[in-house]
Amino acid sequence: MATLTLDPRVSGPTADFVSQRHQMYVDGRFVMAASGSSFPVYNPATGEVITEVPEAEEEDVNRAVLAARHAFDEGPWTRMSPSERGRTIWKLADLLEQHLEEFAEIESLDNGKPRAVARVADVPLAVDMFRYMAGWSTKISGKTLPLSAGRDFHAYTLREPIGVVAQIIPWNFPLLMAAWKLAPALACGCTIVLKLAEQTPLSGLRLAQLIDEAGFPPGVVNVLTGYGEGAGAPLAAHELVDKVAFTGSTEVGKLIVKAAAGNLKKVTLELGGKSPAIVFADAEIDHAIQGTASAIFFNHGQCCCAGSRLYVHEKIFDQVVEGVSHVAGDIRLAPGLDPSCQMGPLVSDEQYRKVVGYIESGVQEGAKIAAGGPVSGFDRGYFVRPTVLTNTNPSMKVVREEIFGPVVCAVPFSDAELEGILKRANDTAYGLAASVWTRNLSLAHKVSRGIRAGTVWVNCHNVFDASLPFGGYKQSGWGREMGEEVLNNYLETKAVTVAL
Ligand code: NAI
Ligand code: MG
Repeated sequence: MATLTLDPRVSGPTADFVSQRHQMYVDGRFVMAASGSSFPVYNPATGEVITEVPEAEEEDVNRAVLAARHAFDEGPWTRMSPSERGRTIWKLADLLEQHLEEFAEIESLDNGKPRAVARVADVPLAVDMFRYMAGWSTKISGKTLPLSAGRDFHAYTLREPIGVVAQIIPWNFPLLMAAWKLAPALACGCTIVLKLAEQTPLSGLRLAQLIDEAGFPPGVVNVLTGYGEGAGAPLAAHELVDKVAFTGSTEVGKLIVKAAAGNLKKVTLELGGKSPAIVFADAEIDHAIQGTASAIFFNHGQCCCAGSRLYVHEKIFDQVVEGVSHVAGDIRLAPGLDPSCQMGPLVSDEQYRKVVGYIESGVQEGAKIAAGGPVSGFDRGYFVRPTVLTNTNPSMKVVREEIFGPVVCAVPFSDAELEGILKRANDTAYGLAASVWTRNLSLAHKVSRGIRAGTVWVNCHNVFDASLPFGGYKQSGWGREMGEEVLNNYLETKAVTVAL
């Protein structure tokens, strides 16, 4: 194993976990990769290797899928009462909550985000997701149906688990994405093979230990670490998988659809975005400035729903751009474990290069930098300063493509008719989210209807709740995460008709 370097701020339990010999979780056992290979995990604040994890490949995927298949086909999970399933999920939530500090620290170390943010957002939201879905396990029911064919029939529907589910997740909220995926699939009675993101495998491996402790039967949840091509691709293509749920890039989302075609497994996708934040002239300006800044800078802009296109009415454009630029300039960049950290590094060297490349391309195409810019001033780590671009035009790459970093394009609008600004807001291949900033109630509702996206926030942005369905129109995806809606991703409907 390579020499490992750990931040001295890391506490005892986290240091013990991070430096242990990591194993994947397959069929209720902790295992190395079949090949014995492993790959490095980096601290994005320094670029140093902090540990290694097993590198799953096709053979490991096979073993995990067979374990999930057996657990689904033979029980006991699928024969357990919904109440018992719900209690097991709730127990996992309790265990996770008991280890909140440790998870916040692991998340900060592995992903780069401020520990303080992981403590109040990532971990509690994950706990809440498991609790919310534990409640749904006893509330999944069909309907009785009055048939037009006549009164001689008794007809009803059964809602049954879809089967073995492959779940592939990204690195921006490693633990929370695992919770969004696992919790509803478990509530529905499915069995799962979860592949963690290669950049951030640690919180998912720690979660696997708690899943074991919570008492899920072997094979119900299997957790793999590995790369997209080596592990993700064979999982998405596997003949014994009934459904694949993916969160990540639109590009890979399209590959997942192709991979799923072999056995026509069901597919849901939560993909990229280029979400508009629209500030009208009557908005409460200070609130809109703080809110639209946080819309793009939260989680370093590494949110699929980041408010990356900021449309501001021309009357208040200068004031809002100045305000957001001030907020950007005041954000303190530091390693996530530094108590003063307000924004950490991006997750990886690859993302760092990508985001800096976008800022440079914007400038080359004629955009002006109102705050931030391509130079971070750090001599190591993947830090990018919060950046505000003006003087863009609708055909520039920075306006059209998902940057996935702390970079916002501010654009003035003067449209007298609502249709004009809606047209600009909807001028994108994506349709994940939008926010509207105004004191005019009627206007807020009209814009909410006119936006082609799965989420609209009014006078707020990035509000998530286990009860709120989340997902995309257009190329932002298929299906919804969370809320009652997500259950559709993991259930089949059976119609039973009885001739009386
Ligand atoms: P990605 O889409 O390549 O990775 C996401 C997950 O898919 C990871 O677990 C990865 O191992 C897996 N994967 C990659 N290739 C695969 C394949 N051929 N078959 C099956 N699984 C595969 O995203 P990446 O490379 O980490 O980030 C690239 C861009 O994607 C970002 O800059 C951002 O624009 C977008 N992205 C969007 C996210 C979202 O929440 N919608 C999250 C992460 C990235
Ligand atoms: Mg990729």
